[in-house]
Amino acid sequence: MDGTNFRRAIARTRLAPVAAFPKRLMRVAKHDARVISVSAKWLLTSREHHNYTYDLTKLSREHLAWFVSVTCDVPVKQVRTYLTEIEEDEPLRQHIEQATAASDRRGLADRRVRYARRIGWYAIVRATRPKHIVETGVDKGLGTCVLASALLRNAADGEPGRVTSLDINPEAGYLAKSEPWASVVDLVIGDSLASIKALDRPVDLFLHDSNHSTGHERREFQAVSPKLAPGARLLTDNVTVTNVLAEHAEKTGRRFLAYRETPAQHWYPGDGIGIAW
Ligand SMILES: C[S@@+](CC[C@H](N)C(=O)[O-])C[C@H]1O[C@@H](n2cnc3c(N)ncnc32)[C@H](O)[C@@H]1O
Repeated sequence: MDGTNFRRAIARTRLAPVAAFPKRLMRVAKHDARVISVSAKWLLTSREHHNYTYDLTKLSREHLAWFVSVTCDVPVKQVRTYLTEIEEDEPLRQHIEQATAASDRRGLADRRVRYARRIGWYAIVRATRPKHIVETGVDKGLGTCVLASALLRNAADGEPGRVTSLDINPEAGYLAKSEPWASVVDLVIGDSLASIKALDRPVDLFLHDSNHSTGHERREFQAVSPKLAPGARLLTDNVTVTNVLAEHAEKTGRRFLAYRETPAQHWYPGDGIGIAW
């Protein structure tokens, strides 16, 4: 009996799981060793304790370009130029580096600037040219700066817009308080639901990234509904955790798609972008 036939014969017996155990053990050990090594490196080199930042893998970045292309109906080549645009925005990168180094929270922030899936937010703003964006959940203001940077480029192309950024924490948004980014940002402190209800201008692009409980996310999409401009797009940063935006899209007759990011060299499994349009 040759090797193949012997293995087939074993596979038919109750000994099969025992025979396969060493190979299975090696596979899972190899995977876990990689996770442990990346985690140990992160523990020693990063200072972040929440809202982690990282780059996307090359493949994940490419899938993001296609995601934006399909959902915003622009050629993928165009989307790739938008992704490169934000990645090569040196004034923004330097500003974030310097503002982080000077902030009270510098002990809990990494020096290197990494936008992760936010480069997709940037491309969506460049592709759809919203006049008014609303972002719920600001934290340091990294996403706000990315959105503002896209709005400034749109303005240079003759299509200006503003972002209203909502956070309950009075200390939120310190990265977005410098010019020129601050010139297109309206930072509103308070509970997002009350702030959404107080909006007095139609919303072209809405991004949920605040309290990620299912109930709060659902209430935000309900609250913003009467404020939306025709053809508005809805985004959620919570798409890997809840199905709220998909359900909202189905109820309101929209299409829905989700992208899941893959962080490069990070233990965190990543978040994603949900879009309804
Ligand atoms: C994940 S962070 C936002 C990240 C940010 N969009 C970015 O790009 O880095 C979540 C933020 O939501 C804020 N938040 C939590 N509950 C909120 C609420 N009910 N209303 C407004 N903001 C809230 C928190 O203070 C926190 O700054």
